[in-house]
Amino acid sequence: MYTFLRILTALVIIGVIALLAFIFWPVQRTAPQADLPADYQVPDGAGEYAMQLADCAACHTAEDGERFAGGRAIESPMGVIYSSNITPDPETGIGDVTLDQFRAALYDGIGKDGEHLYPAMPYDNYRKLTEPDVRALYAYFMDEVPPVRNAVSAAEMGFPFDQRWGIRAWKWVALGKAGFTPEFDDEQLDRGAYLVEGPGHCGACHSPRNAFFAQTGYTAADDRFLTGGEIGGWHAPDLRGPDSAPQKWAADQLAHWLRTGRNNHAGVSGEMQLVVGESLQYLSDDDVAAMVAYLRHIGRDGPAPTTPAARPETSGETEELLASADPDMDLGARLYLDNCNACHFVDGRGADEVFPDLDGNSLVNAPGATGLIDIILNGAELPSTEIRPMRLRMPGFADRLSDDEVATLATFLRSAWSNSTGPVEAGAVADLRNGSAQ
Ligand code: HEC
Ligand code: HEC
Ligand code: HEC
Repeated sequence: MYTFLRILTALVIIGVIALLAFIFWPVQRTAPQADLPADYQVPDGAGEYAMQLADCAACHTAEDGERFAGGRAIESPMGVIYSSNITPDPETGIGDVTLDQFRAALYDGIGKDGEHLYPAMPYDNYRKLTEPDVRALYAYFMDEVPPVRNAVSAAEMGFPFDQRWGIRAWKWVALGKAGFTPEFDDEQLDRGAYLVEGPGHCGACHSPRNAFFAQTGYTAADDRFLTGGEIGGWHAPDLRGPDSAPQKWAADQLAHWLRTGRNNHAGVSGEMQLVVGESLQYLSDDDVAAMVAYLRHIGRDGPAPTTPAARPETSGETEELLASADPDMDLGARLYLDNCNACHFVDGRGADEVFPDLDGNSLVNAPGATGLIDIILNGAELPSTEIRPMRLRMPGFADRLSDDEVATLATFLRSAWSNSTGPVEAGAVADLRNGSAQ
């Protein structure tokens, strides 16, 4: 018995030492993935372009805040995190940060004081950045961004998530190999893979998350990669199934949507708006072509057909019902005629690049209806881009429609034309209206 106690005590002591080592042992910073010549110069314009590819502005600029001065609140189920000030202000920003420290933030999620960064900063994807892109980003933030003094609030996370050392354990489970490995023997596809998997961090929203909240799949070789995720309660659709946008839209339509947030099918909304507005609209012709080629190549059922499939045949029932203007028609159809028809029309196909299709729309048919309800209540506005500067606005209907009416209308939309998704409950509308949906 006595021996047993001694063994137990020894085990406890070893456990405590291991835990302390785990918490306090210095972290390793990943080395550069390529040796660049000592006199390496970042090409003109490469810094800003790398920043645009990686969408740094979307998270590091608060609404109405100075560019890159941080403070944008990022909500998570465990609490609120505020993005850091990444202007070169030496005190409140990253002015004193060395290239190695900067790379460690991007690759290893380690902040300037050695602290573990919450994965709200998508370093699990940025780990794939090439050394020339890391250099370009560093040069951009040090030399081209004006310093802004702005002390950002500390994260407000509940216990145990406020213990940053816990993130270290998460990294062991979640982080893959650093650096980008070409997957295809094809320059364009590999460039597309790099853009999507690395700087574009599309998987951060469009891939499912596992029990540890880690992204499932970081390359196309993993069949869960880009098969749909969730952000702020909204569904970020599957990009690989046969009915997904990249697989069913023509290549030029996909390219146009990525750059302008609109095409002859859908309009961009939710969190995807910042991706288009701050990042994708700036893609070069070659890069947008590479991204499109890659997205179309990695379909679950093989590469997307060159000629897109015809739209699904519908029975024409919904059109007939709406056109009949029958006074006895169901409430859902009536609400549509009274509130939506003027822009989205009886065939649910709107007008190219102006009013999105509601027939076959991934937002209308998403497994959860949060995005759809949100748009009906609060409206939506297409971002202004260089190619399509006009902001097109859809009004919100929160003042005009009750929770029951929104639910009935949404249920109608989800089964109208060729759509066939489940009903929406009034409770879900009430939750969203009162801001308690998640
Ligand atoms: C999806 C949102 C998001 C994107 C995109 C993003 N960041 Fe971050 N970043 C954050 C958040 C949130 C933090 C703070 C995390 C924390 O407090 O643990 C952060 C922290 C950082 C830090 C650490 C700052 C410090 O004080 O040590 C650096 C450096 C940084 N980001 C640079 C970048 C760069 C460069 C880009 C673009 C390549 C970028 N971030 C893109 C959300 C983002
Ligand atoms: C911050 C989260 C986020 C990131 C990052 C993100 N997306 Fe999205 N994406 C969404 C959400 C949410 C939607 C649904 C709303 C919509 O359709 O506009 C969406 C919609 C889309 C659609 C439209 C699908 C359809 O059926 O209409 C495409 C295509 C798309 N994203 C591609 C991409 C690509 C490519 C990337 C990387 C360059 C990317 N997304 C990065 C959140 C994100
Ligand atoms: C004044 C014209 C107008 C009216 C009326 C209107 N919409 Fe829209 N709708 C738009 C525009 C413009 C967009 C594109 C905005 C965006 O996606 O950011 C849009 C987008 C949408 C989307 C998102 C589509 C996508 O591809 O992401 C849905 C869903 C939608 N509308 C449903 C409705 C419903 C339901 C009604 C009636 C309650 C309605 N709209 C009334 C103009 C209108």
